[in-house]
Amino acid sequence: MENKLSNLTLDQKITLLTGMDSWNIHDIPVLDKFHMADGPCGLRLETDEYNEADTCMALENGNEDGVSSSKKRKVVPAVCFANPSVLANSWNKEIVKKSASAMADECIDAGVDMLLAPGINIKRDPRCGRNFEYMSEDPYLAGSLAKEYIDGLQEKGIGTSLKHYCANNSENARNVINAVIDKRTLMEIYTRNFYYAIKANPTTVMCAYNKVNGFWCSENKEINDILYNKLGFKGAIVSDWGAVHHKIPSVKSGLALQMPYREGMFEEVKTALSNGELTEEDIDLCAGRTVDLIERVQQMKPLRKVTTDKQARFEIAEEGALEGIVLLKNNGVLPIKAGSKVGFAGRFSPQTYCGGGSARVETPNMPKQLYETLSEEDKDFTYVSANIVCEPTWHGNWHFPWTSQEEILPKFEGVDYAVVQVGTSNEVESEGFDRTSIKLTREEESHIRFIGDNFKGKTIVIIHSGSAVDVSSWIDSVDAVVYAGFGGERVSNALAKILLGKVSPSGKLAETFPKKLEDISCFDTMNKYMTEDYYTDRIYVGYRHYDKKKINPMFEFGYGLSYAKFEYSDLAIADNGDSIAVTYKIKNVSDVTAKEISQIYMYSPAKVTDRPVKELIGYSKDLIKAGEEVTVTVNVDKDTMKYYDVDLGDFALEKGTYTIAVGASSRDIRVKNKIKI
Ligand code: GLC
Repeated sequence: MENKLSNLTLDQKITLLTGMDSWNIHDIPVLDKFHMADGPCGLRLETDEYNEADTCMALENGNEDGVSSSKKRKVVPAVCFANPSVLANSWNKEIVKKSASAMADECIDAGVDMLLAPGINIKRDPRCGRNFEYMSEDPYLAGSLAKEYIDGLQEKGIGTSLKHYCANNSENARNVINAVIDKRTLMEIYTRNFYYAIKANPTTVMCAYNKVNGFWCSENKEINDILYNKLGFKGAIVSDWGAVHHKIPSVKSGLALQMPYREGMFEEVKTALSNGELTEEDIDLCAGRTVDLIERVQQMKPLRKVTTDKQARFEIAEEGALEGIVLLKNNGVLPIKAGSKVGFAGRFSPQTYCGGGSARVETPNMPKQLYETLSEEDKDFTYVSANIVCEPTWHGNWHFPWTSQEEILPKFEGVDYAVVQVGTSNEVESEGFDRTSIKLTREEESHIRFIGDNFKGKTIVIIHSGSAVDVSSWIDSVDAVVYAGFGGERVSNALAKILLGKVSPSGKLAETFPKKLEDISCFDTMNKYMTEDYYTDRIYVGYRHYDKKKINPMFEFGYGLSYAKFEYSDLAIADNGDSIAVTYKIKNVSDVTAKEISQIYMYSPAKVTDRPVKELIGYSKDLIKAGEEVTVTVNVDKDTMKYYDVDLGDFALEKGTYTIAVGASSRDIRVKNKIKI
């Protein structure tokens, strides 16, 4: 792209290599202003003048620290959408794109040019604090959904930042950890997600804090060469905030924009230029990418037409939660019959609509309580509440006031269903730290068992969390389990519709729920100083790991129940050169209309090298009316069937006979057929 770089002086180019402050690129006269904001769950716009009330309160309390901290972290209220991990459980490209498009409207209203999203790091370890922001353990599912997310924003003229490149799979030691990853694993898993997402041509990729194979991501020639020469990225790399450890090596590696502003960078670059450590070409390459970024976003501005009002955004937030809610267990107790009486034996804490850290959206519309939204959906609905509120305490555990537990059973006389809402919170799953366990707190677990084992009616557990939870110690005590994730501000509205059967649950897990933490592929790959993480699980992450090691998870990748029942048949495969067409039928043999997510897996010949037992290569989500049969055709690009050949230094398509399988989950395979490639 011919750009205005030639109009800039050398000093102006050097100035462009570092942000102007926390959220802006330097104002260079010939260039447009450029303002950025977080984040993947919706707009988190920080300004200095907002939240005056906080500042006044801090002043009144004579709390000087409070004044300065409140000045630092003013977040403008915005709509909190279903978190990306919930959108991923929807497997619905349309709702992912629609959610991002609505976030674009929020950005347009607020004058933001680029949203620092989506995050697509592989969900390798369920303890990772930011898994709520990420999409899947599978690179194809994560990358293909992220592509829709990027399209949703950029088609409305808003820039994007695909993050965090790469292998930022834990939070505890993100500023020191060195991810030691073999080349095949790096290509097939930890950059493959970016490969699929980059098909949407994101304006930027954000580099991660950690090291990969000994070099900081902010100055890593190996991964930047992959990014530009193998993944097809054409935009600018922006650093994560504070991720640039050494300015000159970062410029040498091609990182265009260091964020945020840091004192002394200009002088450092000038010195490096004079002593030959840097050349003008180095500076032109990086500054040129930033100029291209500014000009590209400038050219996108005519697309900025707001098409949703606040109400429409609320509805999209609700739709994302609705599509992403996963029914994990149902002993025939759901949906709740109209006019039932429900006892709330543990209520949802409003904090649990979104995870913590830079992705947390501050919504002015906290989620309603479930008893409110159930009452809105069913006028005959009645309830009692045991007044046990699961509040996330400072250390992130939830505390049940035990005194009220004794009163529950007498109070629940005549009640049909007991609902227990549990989970984690933004204090447990957040940027900056990882969970130490994937269990709920002891109180929660024992409370669930108390209710499940003693209440005479049916017990329903609803889980709010950002990533997998170990349910093994209590799941046999309850009749139904609904996984709502961090479902955004309209999660209770969505839950009410699901519980009452207005809509059948249609979400399926985009990550495995293990029976116990020790079963995961990377339980102890990190050294005790948390400075090295050896990716010895290699390409066997997530379901690839459980399949290879023949470990049965609690709930497998792709698992989710429905109120309907589907039968699959007539799988046919056609070889169309660069792609194969996979056609099959699904019949809804129930009397409930519902959506079904069908998943296409390949079992490769695995003669040339070791390969996963099966790999996801395609999927479809279809609304199928009661009694109806539909024919589904998914065109699978043979690119998704390749493995990385280290000797060749590229991806290759293994010749031989493949089994193609279509399943309702990765372990519930319904139809199979073969094709010779
Ligand atoms: C944070 C996060 C990144 C975010 C950026 C700006 O540290 O890692 O995802 O976009 O800094 O807040």
